[in-house]
Amino acid sequence: MLRAVARVAGETGVRAQLSLEETFACGVGACWGCVVPLARESAQAPNFPPVAAGETRDYVHARICKEGPVFWAHELRW
Ligand code: FES
Repeated sequence: MLRAVARVAGETGVRAQLSLEETFACGVGACWGCVVPLARESAQAPNFPPVAAGETRDYVHARICKEGPVFWAHELRW
């Protein structure tokens, strides 16, 4: 449903923030069990794990429990 909300927001030019719900294994950012792909340029993007030299992907994995749980819809890469 949140993906559909993000799509509609993008299509209509509305900036939306989404609160992603997740079952947290640790809840403190240690296990990386709650990651979501997030744009590299996002202010919420973690510096870890670092992007390797020559790697071209435009996203990083952000932990919902640590960097979130609220993200800008246009920065999620799902
Ligand atoms: S629940 Fe462990 S990193 Fe988020």
